[in-house]
Amino acid sequence: MDAVALERGADAPQILEKPRPEPDSGEVLVRTLLVGVDGTDHEVIAGRHGSFPPGEDHLVLGHEAIGVVEDPNGTAFEAGDVVVPTVRRPLAGGATEFFEHGEPDMAPADEVVERGISGAHGFMSEYFTSPAEFLVSVPDDLAEWGFLIEPISISEKAVEMARASRSAFDWRPESALVLGNGNLGLLTLAMLGDSFDRTYCLGRRDRPDPTIAIVEKLGATYVDSRETPVTEVPDAYEPMDFVYEATGYAKHAFESVEALAPNGVAALLGVPESWSFEIDGGSVHRDLVLGNKALVGSVNSNYRHFEAAVETLTALPDWLKDDLVTGVHDASNFADAFADDETTIKAAVKFYHQ
Ligand code: NAP
Ligand code: BGC
Ligand code: ZN
Repeated sequence: MDAVALERGADAPQILEKPRPEPDSGEVLVRTLLVGVDGTDHEVIAGRHGSFPPGEDHLVLGHEAIGVVEDPNGTAFEAGDVVVPTVRRPLAGGATEFFEHGEPDMAPADEVVERGISGAHGFMSEYFTSPAEFLVSVPDDLAEWGFLIEPISISEKAVEMARASRSAFDWRPESALVLGNGNLGLLTLAMLGDSFDRTYCLGRRDRPDPTIAIVEKLGATYVDSRETPVTEVPDAYEPMDFVYEATGYAKHAFESVEALAPNGVAALLGVPESWSFEIDGGSVHRDLVLGNKALVGSVNSNYRHFEAAVETLTALPDWLKDDLVTGVHDASNFADAFADDETTIKAAVKFYHQ
């Protein structure tokens, strides 16, 4: 079967011919429909994040998948069921109690593998296998868009973590700022529209631009970081009750504190590389304390967040999915899904037509 993989030492993925996997006991064989590409895939390809499976010369990419059960292999699934796989799996010798609690997303990152990212092959191949417990059932009519469920689940978790940090008092947030107009930022902006009166999205692009068009169609305000740095958002617009960082730009983590209103919370999602820079740590510390503010880091998501994401995806308007997903490419043209240009927002590789 064809698989889209990154070979050690390569700076771009390629198609490799691999044997179709055989499901072990308790595992399901899934025929892949679609696999999305996100900023993390680009970070993996650039060697800034992730790792190869031990002892292997390549990593099959892809962690945002949707597929159809080909062989239920004695599990509770039936052939033809539409499923989405979760990403984390136990590392041999790693922490399994988080999996037993259904919270692998809370395990130490170096005690798990992440399929398609760190230490385990991903889903960007004609078939993949997975233990049944890591497959989420999805209604058939989401088959076309189900590769958006994993990224939506990331924000389900991050928003839940942020809200939980404000649960000790009567928090009534009105304003939310998303940092980053990439696919994760825009999906999250759409999700926040229902629960915040006023939403904003920060980018660094000139108009006309397809991401700014989506921001404005969602009824949100576009903030150009070149004109209005994050620290100036309160004066230029308003202090924010919630900030969601999806740029991976490390300074934003600290600047977010200044953008927050008293009692606000910022969720950090980006995965930057090591970068030393100067900050006024005293002011950040003081602001967090005297403002009752919180910074919450969030990674990955668990089964429950995938289930919530199914609901969220069902409620997203069709125009948003059409505008956000700028390309669905056959596996033979997989390279187009990895284009890193300003016309590509969200792309997916298609293996099989339902
Ligand atoms: P993406 O498509 O690359 O989007 C990042 C966006 O941020 C881009 O649109 C980029 O603008 C914008 N940006 C970067 N630096 C900026 C700056 N200084 N000012 C204004 N805008 C800036 O990536 P993504 O898939 O949306 O993911 C976003 C980040 O979240 C990545 O770091 C990714 O690794 C991380 N992530 C984390 C999790 C988790 O579980 N924690 C899950 C998924 C993704 P331009 O395009 O104009 O350059
Ligand atoms: C994935 C998560 C993963 C994170 C860190 C994200 O792009 O969606 O599942 O935990 O990267 O590797
Ligand atoms: Zn991702």
